[in-house]
Amino acid sequence: MKHANASGKSIEVILDQQETLLIVDDEAAIRRVLCQKLSREGYRCEEADNAEQTTNTLTTSPIALVILDVKMPGKSGIELLPEIKSGYHDTAVIMATAVTDINVAIQCLKQGADDYICKPFNLEEVSLSVQRALEKRRLRLEIREYQQFLEERVEEQTGEIRKIFLGAIEALVTALEAKDKYTGGHSRRVTEIALALGNELGLSEKDMEDLRWASLLHDIGKIAVDQIIQNKPARLTPEEYEHIMTHAHIGAEIVRPVVNGKISEMIEHHHDHYNGNGLHQVITGNTIPLGARIIAVADAFDAMISDRPYRSAMSVAEAIDEIKNGASNQFDPAVVNAFLKIGEMAATRAQSL
Ligand SMILES: [Fe+2]
Repeated sequence: MKHANASGKSIEVILDQQETLLIVDDEAAIRRVLCQKLSREGYRCEEADNAEQTTNTLTTSPIALVILDVKMPGKSGIELLPEIKSGYHDTAVIMATAVTDINVAIQCLKQGADDYICKPFNLEEVSLSVQRALEKRRLRLEIREYQQFLEERVEEQTGEIRKIFLGAIEALVTALEAKDKYTGGHSRRVTEIALALGNELGLSEKDMEDLRWASLLHDIGKIAVDQIIQNKPARLTPEEYEHIMTHAHIGAEIVRPVVNGKISEMIEHHHDHYNGNGLHQVITGNTIPLGARIIAVADAFDAMISDRPYRSAMSVAEAIDEIKNGASNQFDPAVVNAFLKIGEMAATRAQSL
């Protein structure tokens, strides 16, 4: 398994490279001694004698570890440390300090330095400190890589589960509608129109995904509705109408355990009227979820342009007029406005499904 880091290189590639160290000290003699010792141990060494040169080198070369002098003319090592830690996460830092500055060294550890070494240097201790700091860095990189790997796996599997579930639901909706010659393809057409409306209204990608699910599933509660009443070739009595309309609540209850709350709320309220005059309605206006207000328009439009047992289909132009007349009454005027921009186009596309 190879995972790319921010620079586009996999962490294995970073770890396989010969590690480059940057020795930062304003005294050339100190840099030379450290470079000689660490080069003999197989590290590539670069040098810098001030803060600016250090930053330039970090920007242009992949530096595994910096040995940073605490006291330098100009910007000190203490001032430079937070910049290195925030700008170059993959670089380890060892602070080099005088024995008398131990408190400063401890402060540096608190600010993210991996270790400190004291002047005058014991070169064997320097070597051990470098080994320890590089080992810590390797562990950090490996942990991060593993976290990334796990996050990607979870995301992939969540996507797979969602795809399988959506496929199963689509099949269920298709089977449900296939039983009834009047509603065949209704949910797919409503979904097509609702998504065109969502797009026109500038919904986010996440809200569009929720809207897609809610539109596909909006009539799933009809599974519990009496087929004889649903296909009655005459206008429904108030009792029969009330029975049919229970499908919104039943549908929301059916899907609630497997979808998020926004989706079940859209299903619950897809027959609510904007002015509050829908059957047994408890919320009104913009407190009705936007997705439900969108589905209401898409649903009503598709129903109007489809044959029903008790009436034949309206023309697209007549149905668009009906939707227009319902603005601020049955429908959200903002959704109607969006619908008027896309109505005919959406109807044509939806009917071709
Ligand atoms: Fe419905």
